[in-house]
Amino acid sequence: MERRKLTIPEIIQKKNEGRKITMLTAYDYPIASFIEQAGIDIILVGDSLGMVVLGYENTIPVTMEEMLHHTKAVKRAVKYALLVGDMPYMSFHKSKEDAIYNAGRFIKEAGCDAVKLEFYPGVIEITKAIVSAGIPVMGHIGLTPQTVMQLGGYKVQGKDAERAKTLIEAAISFEEAGCFSIVLECVPDKLAKIITERLRIPTIGIGAGPDCDGQVLVTHDLLGLFERFLPKFAKRYVNLAPQIVEAVKEFKEEVESGVFPDRSHSFTISEEELRKIK
Ligand code: KIV
Repeated sequence: MERRKLTIPEIIQKKNEGRKITMLTAYDYPIASFIEQAGIDIILVGDSLGMVVLGYENTIPVTMEEMLHHTKAVKRAVKYALLVGDMPYMSFHKSKEDAIYNAGRFIKEAGCDAVKLEFYPGVIEITKAIVSAGIPVMGHIGLTPQTVMQLGGYKVQGKDAERAKTLIEAAISFEEAGCFSIVLECVPDKLAKIITERLRIPTIGIGAGPDCDGQVLVTHDLLGLFERFLPKFAKRYVNLAPQIVEAVKEFKEEVESGVFPDRSHSFTISEEELRKIK
């Protein structure tokens, strides 16, 4: 069957048909094109960019300009997957007008199909405004790194009944505000199951157990490209970092010992032309 661009109704349809949704992050052209070749449904240019690519301590310093720069690179590789841009800290907090403007930049300048908003108390009104402007929104609840200080650090969210109820309410509010899907990050598996069953829109889990409608990972965790830490919920399918170091060491040794480049990596000039130079 000919591959077509995935649409938001098709993503929702996958939930209705019990087919799992796959989502991965990308921040540049080559990785995005590998993900695209593998047939992943949704590519998220996450603000995790700040940590896994730009070397910041956390996601707070990430700017709109940094997000747009990387999203444009990803877009050049993406033809079929749904492309979602993650709105960075303070790009959707000041006013509805400012939030619509910044969300619009992801669509108009970077070619995204949708934006993702992390939960904070005022986000529902902002979500409604962005959706009213015709921009599809993915919500994000649970461990939301942009408000990690309020959450008391990087830890599992919704472990007691009161906080679990708050998360269920947040999920329902996002759905009612018009989101087409919601990321559930770092919540107990049984709570994720309850939320998934309550919502008509798909849930995409990261550290939220197997019962979500889809799963997302930070690609640098999956590939072993980020060495600072590996969250408990992330699975490293390949460990590329040591392989990269080995390859670079081999290059260094071969250059220093004169093994590289050899004839097969060199270009020739005819003896006749050479004589004319001498
Ligand atoms: O920024 C990001 O990569 C994310 C995912 C973890 C969902 O928000």
